Parts: sequence; C-alpha cells; structure tokens
Amino acid sequence: MPLPAKGVCASALQAIGNTPVVRLQKIVPTISADVLVKLEYFNPTGSYKDRMALSMIEEAEARGTLRPGMTVVEYTGGSTGSSLAFVCAVKGYPFKVVSSDAFAREKLQTMRAFGAELMIVPSVGGQVTPDLTPRMIEAARELAKDPGIYWTDQLHNADIITGHEKLGRELLEQIEGPIHAFCGAVGTAGMLMGVARALRQANSQARMIALEPASSAFLSTGKAGTHHVEGIGIGSVPPLLDSAFYDEVRGIDEGEARQMARRLAQEEGIFAGVSSGLNVVGALQLAQELGAGHTIVTVAVDTGLKYLAGDLYEG
Ligand SMILES: Cc1ncc(COP(=O)(O)O)c(C=O)c1O
Repeated sequence: MPLPAKGVCASALQAIGNTPVVRLQKIVPTISADVLVKLEYFNPTGSYKDRMALSMIEEAEARGTLRPGMTVVEYTGGSTGSSLAFVCAVKGYPFKVVSSDAFAREKLQTMRAFGAELMIVPSVGGQVTPDLTPRMIEAARELAKDPGIYWTDQLHNADIITGHEKLGRELLEQIEGPIHAFCGAVGTAGMLMGVARALRQANSQARMIALEPASSAFLSTGKAGTHHVEGIGIGSVPPLLDSAFYDEVRGIDEGEARQMARRLAQEEGIFAGVSSGLNVVGALQLAQELGAGHTIVTVAVDTGLKYLAGDLYEG
C-alpha cells in the first residue's frame, strides 16, 4: 500500500498499524527488565485484528480469489468481525457475518454500523455452548458453497500471519537494542506467529512465549476448561500455531489478568481488554526472571471501550 501523500491517508485503511510502543513505568518492579507494550488499540476499530482483516482481504485480492462484486463471509463473535466489516466497508465488498445472540450486543451492533449483514445462529440461553461454534462454522460453510462468496476462514488462513508480520517489523524499527523476550496470548495464533516470523527474519534471538488462560491450558496440558478471556484459549491447537516459531507456553491466571487490566488503566493510562492484561502479567513474570538490562515486549490487543458493558471496569 503506498504511503500517505503529505501525511494524508488515502483511505482509513492506511490508518492501520504504526501504533505506539510505551515503556511501563509504575507496575514494573524497580529491579527488573524493561517491559514495553505496543498499543494496538490505536488501530481504527480499536484492535490489532484490523491488521489481519486487511491482509486476509488484500492477499485474496492479489491471488484473484476475491474479486469485485463478490461477498465476504466469516463466522465471528466480535473483534475479527468488526475489523472485517470495516475493511469491507472501505473496499466496497458486501460482508455477511455468521454470529450469535450469545455474543455482546455492542459487538453485533459495531458490525452492523460498518454495514455488515448479520446472520444470527440462535444460542441456548445466551451461552457459548460447545455446539455453538460448530453450528456457526456449518452456516458459513453452507454460504461459501456459492461461487460469489469469499469465506475468509480465519482459523485456517495463513494470510493472517502476513498481516501481523508488519507488527513485528514495526517493533524492530521502534525498539532500540535487542528484544530479549516477546509474549502474547494465543487465539488463532496469527499475532504470535506473525511477530515471530518478522523477528526471526531479522535474526532476533528473542524468546517467544505463547500465553493461554491457566484454567483452560490446552496448549500446555492438553485439557480445555472454562475461561472468560475473550478471543483466546480456543480449547484446541489452532491450526496456524507452528511449534518451530515459539519456545514456551505459559498459563496465566484469569483473575490476575483482569486485575492487571484495571491496574494498566489506573496506573499507566493504558485502557485495554482482558487479554491485554493477561499479556502484561506474562511480560512481568518474564521481566522478573530475566532481570535488569533486558527488554520484554508484549501488546495491548484492544481498547477497554469494548469491555465497558461487562464487569471488568465496574466498581
Ligand atoms: C481480545 C483478543 N485478544 C487476543 C486474541 C488472540 O489473537 P490471535 O488470534 O492473533 O492469536 C484475540 C483473537 O481473537 C482477541 O480477540
């Protein structure tokens, strides 16, 4: 994509990326490594998912599998849907979302605001039951039989990794000196794999750590459990997660993640979601283990505004 002429973006799509990196000041113990957080909520829909939505659409355009006049389809409960709805709005593709009444009304409304057409798969009592995602996938698969449909199929789409490589390249440009460790919570694994690829290409020796909710530590223990951290811990190994690109998996306590999200807002002015809190808990563990003189990097995935309807910031 060409650079903006004289600082003006040709479209809102050029406002994706180039997000700031902030050094944590107060919540890092004095004798510990530096913890740097990339504020991905500066992206247009307030989430790093804008990066992967753009790459899923533009890589498909480049291959010719997505052409003008076609409709884009995805099943999603929230952030990816909002990002895809945004990208499709700018590019002029109709976007059909298979979603459910089990997901927050604000997220469904955000997708509608960007002009998406929602197909609601009814839930049982508003709960995310184990059969819900398979039913949503089936509905998307059915729609995708139409040759006029392009199904982005995020869980299996390696274009996501390409989109997140840019995040990794930006880190290399923004941070002086070596990155000793990078950690991030895994959903599709697109972000972690993209950053790992960019760092490896630059011969970085950074230790790559995948994070997951301790109560559903499928990657570390093979056992899925209940958790409430949106977007991560899918209860199986995400197809894009390649063991050659990370060194370790850690389970992080969800309660600590939620408390950290609140501390980030109150002490550092970083207003983000639960998975961002979880990322910072992981980064602080690493900072204490590696000690002073080291640099640990993680990301604030999305804005706290997306969590106002829940109880994260209540009280
Ligand atoms: C809020 C949130 N955090 C973290 C993630 C995990 O990112 P990735 O899918 O790139 O592994 C997601 C993905 O949906 C998410 O929505």
